[in-house]
Amino acid sequence: MTTKRILVAYGSKQGGTAGIADEIGSALREDGYETAVLPARDVRDVSGYEAVVVGGSVYAGRWHRDASRFVRLHAEGLSDRPIWMFSSGPVDGSAEQHDLPPVRGLARHMERLQAREHITFGDSITASTPGWIARYLVRHAAAGDFHSPEQIQGWAHHISAELADRP
Ligand SMILES: Cc1cc2nc3c(=O)[nH]c(=O)nc-3n(C[C@H](O)[C@H](O)[C@H](O)COP(=O)(O)O)c2cc1C
Repeated sequence: MTTKRILVAYGSKQGGTAGIADEIGSALREDGYETAVLPARDVRDVSGYEAVVVGGSVYAGRWHRDASRFVRLHAEGLSDRPIWMFSSGPVDGSAEQHDLPPVRGLARHMERLQAREHITFGDSITASTPGWIARYLVRHAAAGDFHSPEQIQGWAHHISAELADRP
């Protein structure tokens, strides 16, 4: 049996979503899948992959532009393979407490591509996050670390289990 190849593509501004994509990639590799983790804007072709996971950060209620562009550009190839989607966003505990639905634009992509599932992960904005907005949020006590490796790894292992059930 040949190993299934999985692509994890992401759109990230400050690196948080890139980190989540790496964690998903590591968990999928642990489960025996050959996995490429790439910035969504660098992907030229999805035909070499059996499944795709794509994620983006949410800014002002919009999914990251690179992630949206990726799903539009590769719509044909993506609709032929199983696809999972994620968002990274809230800098509070809400994503761990309940299921946060995709933002409107992303929900439309999911419907068009018949995506399998979506999940939202919390993010971390701390004193070491670059940028003035992060500094502002830290100063005004609106920041915090809500990144959950357990939730991310759990979701990746769940994708592995679903793929294992496919012929
Ligand atoms: C200006 C600004 C606007 C944001 N808007 C949202 C938002 O509308 N919804 C949300 O869930 N998170 C929002 N966030 C939090 C970011 O989505 C979160 O920090 C994200 O995980 C950053 O990912 P990145 O490091 O990959 O860019 C916002 C953050 C900033 C700085």
